[in-house]
Amino acid sequence: MTSTVITGIGELVTNDPARAGLLGIVEHAAVVVEGDRVAWVGPAAEAPAADALVDAGGRAVLPGFVDSHSHLVFAGDRAGEFAARMAGTAYAAGGIRTTVAATRAATDEQLLSGARRLVDEMLRQGTTTVEVKSGYGLTVRDEARSLAVARLLTEETTYLGAHVVPDGTTPEEYVALVTGPMLDAAAEHARWVDVFCERGAFDADQARAVLAAGAARGLRGRLHANQLGPGPGVRLAAELGLVAVDHCTFLDDADVAALRDSGTVATLLPGVEFSTRQPYPDARRLLDAGVRVAIASDCNPGSSYTSSMPFCVAVAVREMGMTPAEAVHAATAGGARALDRDDVGVLAPGRRADLVLLDAPSHVHLAYRPGVPLVAGVWQRGRPVL
Ligand code: NIG
Ligand code: FE
Repeated sequence: MTSTVITGIGELVTNDPARAGLLGIVEHAAVVVEGDRVAWVGPAAEAPAADALVDAGGRAVLPGFVDSHSHLVFAGDRAGEFAARMAGTAYAAGGIRTTVAATRAATDEQLLSGARRLVDEMLRQGTTTVEVKSGYGLTVRDEARSLAVARLLTEETTYLGAHVVPDGTTPEEYVALVTGPMLDAAAEHARWVDVFCERGAFDADQARAVLAAGAARGLRGRLHANQLGPGPGVRLAAELGLVAVDHCTFLDDADVAALRDSGTVATLLPGVEFSTRQPYPDARRLLDAGVRVAIASDCNPGSSYTSSMPFCVAVAVREMGMTPAEAVHAATAGGARALDRDDVGVLAPGRRADLVLLDAPSHVHLAYRPGVPLVAGVWQRGRPVL
């Protein structure tokens, strides 16, 4: 197995809890990569020899971003809907049906090439792990093929048949389909099951039924909740002890307390509020209460068509009360926790060698220099991919 030492790192973000500070920063650092794993982390002056050497030139290195929430399998876009929103029309979940129609009409090859384009776009911006949901098919065939496409691109796939109730069926009939034949077709391709638990989509009882059916087939649960208004989803996620609940924009004190007590990760999606002109979730309140927080892109053609975790970090810092360190942690280690993964999000011996080199001296620049393409290098499973 060949080894590479990446040395001359001005600031290394490890997220290693065994090191001091939230980000476990090592200055003047080196990382040794062996195969697809990190073999050694420490001061450059003490680095062991390796087969190859890369000089970071005093720049910053951090773990690859872990984007724990995206919807990349779709066809078409909704630029017109976005422009109308910017002219004053409110965001509504019903726009999902526009993408459903386009997705059903697309071939498998078109869906795969569109999703692959976005995964590549993400990789160039430092995302080395991404979760991908279905949810724009909403028939047995279209949910199954959406997940089959997602499965070709990532191991983190989520069955979101319960995205909205499609036209031409009743909610009761549709939940029966989602928990029955559609689940049968989807389960082999998915690791997670998700429900859009929101007024206009699915209520708490329906969400419970879908999560229970998924669990019976070995799928772990996550929820979209409290995005468009207050609702029962966040407390349901906490009650069921789900790993993560996503959006968390409209929360009352009981929701926050429930998240703190359950340890469920609140995944915040700054691109959504940016693109829908809704109020941002209050990350400060969650962090101060001791809630675990992740940041993800929610990349999708309706509510957040960004693939950029650096953009999400910058917005979270500017608009959601996070420090740069908290936002970078939430976009790396936080995302890993939201996917219940301990092999990514942290740079320490034995972890996956997923690293990002910034054209900047510290992680702070991700928020301080918004919109600037700072990602200068990416290693995924030990291989340089940028
Ligand atoms: O996570 N909230 C529900 N689903 C997506 C949006 C989907 C769409 O508008 O196409 C989300 O924001
Ligand atoms: Fe989403």
